[in-house]
This record gives sequence, structure tokens and C-alpha cells, in this order.
Amino acid sequence: MSKSVEKLSARLTAPASEFFMVQKILIIGLGMIGGSLAKSLKEVGFARSICAYDSDVQALETGVRLGVIDSGYSDIAKAMVGADIIILAVPVKATASVFELIKPHLHSAMIISDVGSTKGSVIEAAKAVFGAVPENFIPAHPIAGSEKSGVQAADSQLFAGRKVIITEHCNTSKSATLMIARLWQSTGAEVLQMDVEKHDQVLAATSHLPHLLAFSLVDSLAKESSSLDIFRYAAGGFRDFTRIAASDPTMWSDVCSANKQAILAQLETFTDGLNTLRVAIETEDEQRIKAIFTRAKAAREHFGKMLEGTAYAATSKNKDIRFFVDPGSMLKGEAQVPGDKSISHRAVFLAALADGVSTISGFLHSEDSLVTIQAFRAMGVVIEGPHKGRIKIFGVGKHGLCPPKGVLNLGNSATSMRLLMGLLAAQDFSTVLVGDASLSARPMERVAAPLRQMGAAINTTNGGAPIYITGGKKLTAIDYSMPIASAQVKSAILLAALYADGISSITQFASTRDHTELLMSSMGVDVSTQGGVIRLNPEGGLRALELEIPGDFSSAAFYIVAAIICPGAKLQLKNIGVNPTRLGLLHILKLMGADIVLSNERIVQGEAIADIRVEHSHLQAIEIPREHISTAIDEFPVIFVAASYAQGTTEINGLQELRHKESDRIAVMVSGLRKLGVNIEEKVEGVVIVGGEIKGGTVDSQGDHRTAMAFAIAGANSTATISIKKCTGVNASFPEFVENSVLTGLRIRKEETNVSA
Ligand code: S3P
Repeated sequence: MSKSVEKLSARLTAPASEFFMVQKILIIGLGMIGGSLAKSLKEVGFARSICAYDSDVQALETGVRLGVIDSGYSDIAKAMVGADIIILAVPVKATASVFELIKPHLHSAMIISDVGSTKGSVIEAAKAVFGAVPENFIPAHPIAGSEKSGVQAADSQLFAGRKVIITEHCNTSKSATLMIARLWQSTGAEVLQMDVEKHDQVLAATSHLPHLLAFSLVDSLAKESSSLDIFRYAAGGFRDFTRIAASDPTMWSDVCSANKQAILAQLETFTDGLNTLRVAIETEDEQRIKAIFTRAKAAREHFGKMLEGTAYAATSKNKDIRFFVDPGSMLKGEAQVPGDKSISHRAVFLAALADGVSTISGFLHSEDSLVTIQAFRAMGVVIEGPHKGRIKIFGVGKHGLCPPKGVLNLGNSATSMRLLMGLLAAQDFSTVLVGDASLSARPMERVAAPLRQMGAAINTTNGGAPIYITGGKKLTAIDYSMPIASAQVKSAILLAALYADGISSITQFASTRDHTELLMSSMGVDVSTQGGVIRLNPEGGLRALELEIPGDFSSAAFYIVAAIICPGAKLQLKNIGVNPTRLGLLHILKLMGADIVLSNERIVQGEAIADIRVEHSHLQAIEIPREHISTAIDEFPVIFVAASYAQGTTEINGLQELRHKESDRIAVMVSGLRKLGVNIEEKVEGVVIVGGEIKGGTVDSQGDHRTAMAFAIAGANSTATISIKKCTGVNASFPEFVENSVLTGLRIRKEETNVSA
């Protein structure tokens, strides 16, 4: 199991003075890597003297002349006198003979390390020469290199920002490990620890295989009679792909024998992949070719993001965003909101299962919805885009999903995880679903329990993620009476019911968003709702469709409340989804006296859409009727803000579900609003808010998108600046919130800082 450098550096507590106690470092082998390390250590003054041993006297002279080393030796006995640290920078195959060379001159305080790109072979060499691996031998591997060779190519910046892997063995001395970690950190590298075996597997895939492919491609092309032409005209792709074929042949042939087994395993996987592509080209299987390329492109982009330091599936965990809202906002004109999040998720799910190609516009381009796209790509579905809100999904049919290669990481998105549980419970392959810390702590048994009643095999972890789903189970139809109001649970059951052996029914005691039912129905699924009971007949497939996703009412909600509380405000919102199962906020605000008018109402593919006009209004406090809770479930953070400006005491009960969202929304809002001077009382399942004014102050959204945006809206009429911490979560549903809000007249700005992962 790999350990991160943070753990290692956290233990680097020895006084800095120790840093300067190193007298002499001896580098054995003054090539490009050894030279670069020497040069870097010399520049940072890591030791009093940096020396090298090499049988090539000319290399030593060049090293001294270029200032890479202080002195060079071609006599090992002399070279080792007074050395504290000895680093082998020789081809891995030469490791054993260098160990033999240094053995007679070693004493116990000397630390030995190396830079070899395979570690199993180096450990074996140490055992063979010393009988056991010496405890002061710390195998290390800097993942940096260049196709150039020789000490004249030494570059002191070669390791800056690169990773160095230290591999532990059973004997490893902790103090020696720390010294080697510190040495590499002084070159600007990031130090990680890993098992020997894992290191060799990872490197076979990420470094050794690409080198072999580059060598092999250039070699095959060079053999062709027209090779001169090929090389003369080959620019771009060929040059990029084959740069590393100019690397040192001796070193790489050594790597092949030193890491033979792991490399062969990777070559086999690659050959299988290449063969699949070959067959797809031969049979003109365009869909398969596209699937391979789209998956690769998505994976490459994800990899690019990782290299930039961002987390899986474009989550922005390594950034901290803080919002500031100053007094004096004036909301006027048209507010833009992104596509509906719930419908975006469902569109991907159902279009992936359809027979044919679906085109979707207005798709929400946010972290949560991208997570769903990524999950389906991992299961072999070709999805083009999103590009300007458009995606094209090449449906694979109800039974066409492929097993994903690894776990499905769903980041922060509960909708993705819960709906996938339903769908994957019915597949003939097994899956593991994981999420970030917030998602892993959210309740998943509410979904797993009814699915188990249908015959699914699902294990949660302490009721949450990781979730283990065993495939190949035959599902039976269910008659389920929902114990809680949840559209996600309902949708998961409906997805599983698509695969059950008969008609399933779900009874709801409160109405929840019905986008799954509406979309399934417009794609030809036999699903109907009558008196709170939904019935689904699994016969038949799903038709592909062209879908235009309306603006998200839950995002529009922030501007609706902003306009109501901001004196003089007048806003227009166009093409917003006004599905009755989402309109609780509208009813509540109207009961409180808000001036909101819907116009241009229409139904598109079952979904109600309208334009919304809203003006500043004086709100009266009310006791919020329970019947509106489930249809306003995501809007309560901003309803609390509205109530803080209303005249009188607003009471809200029945909010227990709010404690299970991305954060405990009751606790987060109560704590924040109190800091802003609001008189608010927290109850187990609700709040009591005495309206008045909102003052300035600093609040913490706890990383939850909806609490962050609600606090920002509180600033639309606050008496002083409100500063909101941890607003990165807004990328889950409304990445352009700040930009759009500024255009609408909210005096909001953001500050972004990088935080260490
Ligand atoms: C959602 C359902 C709701 C809601 C969430 C999105 C959906 O969750 O809070 O933001 O898309 O189905 P619950 O089903 O847990 O109420």
C-alpha cells in the first residue's frame, strides 16, 4: 500500500541543523541522472562535498569542469573514505557488481541508495551480495528522465516537481529512509513510499511499456523500404509518440530483464487491447472504435487533471474558494441558470440504455453530472461532449453495459451513486462504488434495502460507501411502500425494476421529483402514476431521444430569493423547469407574499417549462405547510435566508432529511445565520426564525454547494460584507454561479487558493 509524502514529511521533524551535517555524498556512475542529482544537491548545499566515482575518467573531468561535482574518483576505496551517503546511479543490471565493488569499503553508518527504475531486481542483488538487504540500503526511484545521456546533459532542475518513490523492505532503517527522503525533497521532488512489487507493476505500465512501444514502433517503421520518406514527413504525432525511443538502449534492455514478469503482463494487456481495435477496424465496427477512443480521451483528460493536481472526475478538492458579497447589490435584467441537474443525470442513465443515439442539449456541465458521464463511459458507453451543453449518447441497449475495469468513483454525487445502485444491481457483472468523504458518510441502506428485497446482492460499508454489488442476480418485481420521501431511492428502484420479472409498484406518501418516470415514459417504457402509486412494466426497450433540458429550478431558486429580498430588484428567468414536483419554494414564497409570475408555460417531453418574473417583495413569516417540504427539499437553505428577512416568526418542521444532504444543512445554516446576526433556533427536525436584518460576517458552507449559494444570497441585502468559506462545492451544480450572479447585479467576488491535497 502506498503512503503519501505528507505522512513521510510529517515525520521529518529532525532539526534543520541535521540537514547540514552531511559531509560527503558519493554518486557512483556520473551519467545524466547521477550528474543531475549531483548538480541539484550541490546547488542547494545539501552536503559539504558532492563527489562521484566512475570508471570513465573523462566523465569525471567533465563533471568537475561543469561544476556538477566537487571531485571525481576512479578508485573506489578512496572514493568511499568519509562518505555518508552513497548513491548508485548505474543501469539496474550493474547493481550487483557495484555492490561487490563497494562491499569491502562499507561501514555501518553509511547510507546506500540507488535510482534504478526496477526495484525487485535491486533488492535481489542486495540479498545476493550482502546475504540480506542491509538496513541502511534505501531503494529509491526518481520518476524523471530525459532521452539525453551523459554528464554534460546534467540538469539540476530535472527532479523539481517530479515524484520519487522510496520502496521499503523488511529491514529498512527509519532514519536512513528519512535522510534519503530529505535528500530528494531538497531537489524539489515529491517523495512517496510504495511496496517493491507494486512499484514494479506500476512502472511496467506507466514507463516501461511506453518505452518499449516507442522503440518498437520506430524500429518497425525504420525497416520499411520507404522509411526515409516516413521519417522525412512524420511530424506531430510520430514525433510526440516516439521521443522516448531515443533513450539509452543499454539501460532499457536492462530494464526489460530486470522487470521481465511485470512487463510481460502489461504487454499482454496491451496486445489484447490492440487486437480489439484491429478487429473493430477490420469489421468496420465504428461504434466500438469510437468507444475505445472516447474512453481513452476521457481517461487521458482525467490523467491530465491529476497531473495538474486536481482530483478524480474534475472535482476541485485541491482548491479553496471563498466568496465575498458586499452590500449594495441591484438585481436587474435576465438571470442565467444552468441545465437541470436531476434531469441531466437521468438523461445519461436512460439514453445509455436506449437502443440508438440520443442527442441532449442544455446538459448541466458540472462536477456531479460529469461523474455520471464518466461512470457510463467506464461501462463502455460512447458519450460525445459535453460541448456547449450538448452531449450525444450512443445507447447500448438495456443489456449492453460492459463491466468497468475498476471501481466507479462517484465523487460527491449522491444521485449518481444511488441511481447506479439500482441499475447495477440488475447487471450480470459485479461493481464497487466509491465516493468522497462526504458521499461515503451519506445513508445508502435506504436504497440497498428495497433492492435486496428484489433479490439484489449489495453490501454497504457501515450503511454507506464503498458499496459492493454482486452481479448476476435475477431480480423479482417489488411492491414497495416508501418509508421516506426520496426521489433517488424511488429512481433506483425504477431502474432495477426495468430488469425485474414482472410489474413493480412503488407507493409514495409524499410527492418527490418525477423526472425518472417522465423520461422513461417518453422513451417508451410502460410506467404510469396514479394516486401516489407508480407502476412499471419492464417489457420492451428504451427508445433513443432528442432532449432539451430546461434550466434548473433549484439553481433559479437562489435568484428568485435574491430578487425578493433585494430592494428595487426585478428579474426575469427564462426556460426554467417548473415540474410541479419541484415547485415547493414557489408555493411557500407566494404564501409569504412574494411577487412571482410564470409565463410562456409549456410541456416538452412531459416536463413543464416556463419563464419566471420576480420582483422585490415584503415577506410575511408563516408556518411552512408540511405538504410543501418534499417538493422544496433542496431549497431550504435559501428559504431560511428568505425567512430571515421576513416580518415575524417562521416555523419549519419535518426537515429531518436536510441532515443527510451534502452537509447537515440545518446545522450549517443555523450556525452561519447566527453569525450573521439572525435570531434562529435549531430543532431536531426544523428551525424557528425570527425575521429582521442580516449583518456581515464570516460563515462556513462546509463544502456544500447549496449552503454556500444560500449564504451568498443572504448578502443581497446584508448591512455589511459576508465572507463564505469552502465554496468549491458550488462546482457540483452551478459552476458559473459567481460569473452569472455578477451579470445579474449581485456584488459577489471570489478568491481561489490552492490547498495541498
Ligand atoms: C435528487 C433527489 C433529492 C435531492 C437531490 C437530487 C434527485 O434527494 O435532494 O439534490 O435527482 O433525485 P433525495 O432523493 O435524497 O431526497
